Amino acid sequence: MDSKLGLTLRRNRGNPWVRELTREVRVSVEQLIQPLFVVEGIPARESIPGLTGVFRETPETLLQQIEKDLEVGVTKFLLFGVPKNKGLSNFDPSFVASQIQAAKKRFGKKIFLAVDVCLCSSTAHGQCGVLSDSGDHVMNPETVSELVKAAVAYARAGADCVAPSDMMDGRIGAIRRALDEESAKHPSLKQTLILSYSAKFHSKFYGPFRVAADSAPKTIAGMSEPLKDRATYQIDPGRPSDAYLSSVRDQEEGADILMVKPGMPYLDVLADLSKRIPLPWAVYEVSGEYAAIELMAEKGLIQRNAAHLEAWTAFIRAGAEIIITYGAREARKIIQENQQS
Ligand code: PBG
Repeated sequence: MDSKLGLTLRRNRGNPWVRELTREVRVSVEQLIQPLFVVEGIPARESIPGLTGVFRETPETLLQQIEKDLEVGVTKFLLFGVPKNKGLSNFDPSFVASQIQAAKKRFGKKIFLAVDVCLCSSTAHGQCGVLSDSGDHVMNPETVSELVKAAVAYARAGADCVAPSDMMDGRIGAIRRALDEESAKHPSLKQTLILSYSAKFHSKFYGPFRVAADSAPKTIAGMSEPLKDRATYQIDPGRPSDAYLSSVRDQEEGADILMVKPGMPYLDVLADLSKRIPLPWAVYEVSGEYAAIELMAEKGLIQRNAAHLEAWTAFIRAGAEIIITYGAREARKIIQENQQS
């Protein structure tokens, strides 16, 4: 009986055609979002350690890169802007807004442009918000009003979607209300999507990103008790119930799409939440998990392309509709390769 069951199962694995026919989970380029970094004041684009094929772009190379991405079937992007001037409060969203404007002027409806909304690339200390004088606390209301200002500026510049990644309380509702109010003057803002990083954990897998976004927390002069990490606002890895609570809250406050981040170490959370909350789910394959595959491949320890596809397949299997991955621009090639194997 046992061996008969085993043989029956192996028949469906016997050749590429039957494997293709019986596969339940597929990945397509349409589901993927490519992150882009644009940095103010650098003379040429720079590569990012660990993230092969991803760059800190200048405003000029950003547009060239999008052009190339369109040629390989990538149409959806998540933009991170890194302004030159860092401060403590009263941040100026105009550098990022002008990049959005330029991209939309050139590519219009050919691209879907989501824009990350956070302060960590603008603050002198790298924290995601406005700090108290002693530096020991990120102040929630002061931070939310800066995030609202940035989100409205990005939406007005033409972003299709704003994606707050800061983890302050109440920011989704505040941004939604502001977009609604502004839509009286600018009707297109009624259509601006909010993609909430609703289940964002306090992870060590963000390392390569913080180099790219110039956003690692650092101690600056004049603060007596500077925060060293993001533990007071990002979700504790051992506290998945908070991921549920903040996702329900963000849904109620007006988010259109929810997200789990990182991906692979939090697949259980993605599988659970995507069953419990019927909004569309995105997952962010973050820099550290992406770089882990890259570095193993460099050492000859893993088949790079197949490993990337396996990770993406796991995300779809766990319930994501959308994957944010640094490898989106290689996905068409990677998926085709797999079809022939
Ligand atoms: C932050 C933000 C982070 C990422 C996207 N937006 C990380 C952080 O908390 O430092 C991480 C993305 C990645 O690691 O690829 N505001």
